[in-house]
Amino acid sequence: MTDVELIKFAVSAREMSYSPYSNFKVGAALLTKSGKVFTGCNVENAGFTPTNCAERTAVFKAVSEGEREFSAIAIVAGKGDNLNDLCAPCGVCRQVLSEFCDGDFRVIMGTPDNIKVVTLSEILPYSFNKNDLK
Ligand code: THU
Repeated sequence: MTDVELIKFAVSAREMSYSPYSNFKVGAALLTKSGKVFTGCNVENAGFTPTNCAERTAVFKAVSEGEREFSAIAIVAGKGDNLNDLCAPCGVCRQVLSEFCDGDFRVIMGTPDNIKVVTLSEILPYSFNKNDLK
């Protein structure tokens, strides 16, 4: 699975975005270490706080299907029909990813034509995680 292929899964997932309040449509594609892809979109709510980001949708779909080992996530986002150059995961999603992913987990952002890759440890340094509770 190439980074561009994973980004294209995220582009398709973004089409399902339920975002009537922000019109900011986000798609994510999560790659398991065994090579499976779980996609997700943002799902908004009239109560605003129950809104779920695309990244968490993908993680929760995967974990609820028995997957816990992940190597990368691709994220695409933008208002309406436009794709932003880059959309980084929000702080809550970074924390959720840190529950299951190592520091070298790859976060692939951008568009099919212009990709930027960072690691989870780069965007969530000094994380609080399950090791702290041992
Ligand atoms: N959103 C995501 O789905 N992922 C992000 O990384 C940033 C924000 C969603 C939440 C909300 O539906 C909309 O984008 C505006 O914040």
